[in-house]
Amino acid sequence: MIIVPGPASKDLGSKVADSLGVEAVPIEFKFFPDGESYIRYTGSLRGENVVVVQTTGPPQDINLVQLLLLIDAAKDLGARSVTAVVPYIAYARQDKMFRRGEVVSAKTVTRLLEATGVDRFITVNIHNPDALSEFRIPAVSLSAIPLLARFVKGRGLEGAFSLGPDEGAAQMVEEAAEILKGGYGFLKKQRDRVTGEIAFEKKVFDLKGKNAVVFDDIISTGGTTAAAVKTLRSQGAKKVFAACVHALLIADARDRILNSGAEEIIGTDSVPSSVSTVSIAPLIAEALKRGA
Ligand code: R5P
Repeated sequence: MIIVPGPASKDLGSKVADSLGVEAVPIEFKFFPDGESYIRYTGSLRGENVVVVQTTGPPQDINLVQLLLLIDAAKDLGARSVTAVVPYIAYARQDKMFRRGEVVSAKTVTRLLEATGVDRFITVNIHNPDALSEFRIPAVSLSAIPLLARFVKGRGLEGAFSLGPDEGAAQMVEEAAEILKGGYGFLKKQRDRVTGEIAFEKKVFDLKGKNAVVFDDIISTGGTTAAAVKTLRSQGAKKVFAACVHALLIADARDRILNSGAEEIIGTDSVPSSVSTVSIAPLIAEALKRGA
């Protein structure tokens, strides 16, 4: 097996290769003056089981095209198989037609990936695991929540309450609570499909004297996490932390969350950011070893 760290996941790809003790094949990469991507494989891929590691966080469109180019070229260069490791898969949140006429981008991205002839797809905490059923090739979503929860526990937060900002986070907080052992719950969130504004249904948790952690798959504008942190603080939680797998941190998201009363934001290197404290390299390496 050889690992190809894509331009968007250079560090993570190298860490995965190190964890597995296999070769990381560097690529030559540049942008043409008009912004298009140029990529050249520097080593031989013939007959190899190639693993391309490329996340598709912002700028999503560029990173996604680079991913497609990397897979397609690996196939052309004679790779025996190509596995796409895409820690954050872009466009996954639009997984249905919420309003008539909307594009279902999750499905289109799946089709594009399959058109390259990719053999296997591995992602991490995909927004809606049901979206994986669109794939005809083996496709899995790994969970980075245990890694995040163990890190948080190491910060002295054993016994902290785990909160999910919406029902979609129920599974994640269940996983976190198995490690933190402080109970869990989730809010009921509603987002206006046109304005994007969010509102929470009131729910009361028993938080007196407890620390708490908000767990979510994605922090984009930070609105969801900030509102969840405020809820926890207003219900008497002591210290509140924000943990998330894919910290996109758009615009002032970081300040927004810290100003809402969070002590710290803990993210992973699924998407490199200022809060990428926890590496998901061991999770990916383990899955590749298992042949997931
Ligand atoms: C949505 O359901 C996701 O799980 C996240 O809660 C959402 O994407 C976060 O977005 P934002 O940070 O913009 O509120």
